[in-house]
Amino acid sequence: MSSIKSAAILVAAGQGERLAGFTGGIPKQFIQLSQAPLFIWSLTTLAKHALIEHVLVTVPDEWQRRAAELVADFLPEFKNKIAIIAGGSTRQQSVYLALEKLASSEKRPSYVFVHDAVRPFVTSYILDQILKKLEEGNAVTLGIPLSDSIKEVNNNIVLEDLDRGKFILVQTPQAAKFNLLLEAHRTAKLQQKESTDDASIIKAFGTTVTVVTGSKLNFKITEPEDLLIAQALIEHHNWSVGHIYYNSSNNLSAFSIKMME
Ligand code: C5P
Repeated sequence: MSSIKSAAILVAAGQGERLAGFTGGIPKQFIQLSQAPLFIWSLTTLAKHALIEHVLVTVPDEWQRRAAELVADFLPEFKNKIAIIAGGSTRQQSVYLALEKLASSEKRPSYVFVHDAVRPFVTSYILDQILKKLEEGNAVTLGIPLSDSIKEVNNNIVLEDLDRGKFILVQTPQAAKFNLLLEAHRTAKLQQKESTDDASIIKAFGTTVTVVTGSKLNFKITEPEDLLIAQALIEHHNWSVGHIYYNSSNNLSAFSIKMME
């Protein structure tokens, strides 16, 4: 029996190896981004959302205590809505552990969101759009169209030109009916199938996943240059934690476009 409508899993248990050289070995989700550690940005948006009743954060085992302190410092008003657990050795394992935790708790939800902690600029508008779509179906992924050409390569040699209209770049949050995502993960675990996102796991389970259009601004911090872009966006828009606003039209008007003289 579900006791709450929606919960969110924020996956923050990676070691951030691609950025480790720049962060002194600190997993990237814990580095400071302007006013707050990176994971606090998306955690705040999830916790503030009125329809998300519980947020479970996966962190590396040795970061559990520090993560709890940061939640107490930055989100004292949402402390009771947020729980922290140790994640697994892959993203999929982290999500699986969180799903089993929710399944055996009083917080077993009807719907569950899964979000990467390293995408700081998710908005409550995006969460609303996903929830709306989810109420019509079983599972939703966020995705954006490709603006660049796409080619298959091998060792830097171009093999095939692909039709970019057939592809999307996948983002999180993804969301699904809780029982569906739980069973899909249990099946993937039994079959020892490893995926980088939850939509793949649901698709492999035989269920249709619907796409909701995301935004380029909901990008994942992976490389050092992503941090520069994130910092510039915060400064330009005067964003603060929990106050991130954009949609495709006001993105443009927010920038002063200077004409050539
Ligand atoms: O490595 P990748 O970019 O796919 O990580 C996406 C998200 O999954 C990150 O927020 C990362 O912290 C999280 N993750 C996790 N447990 C792992 C590996 C990654 O929660 N073992």
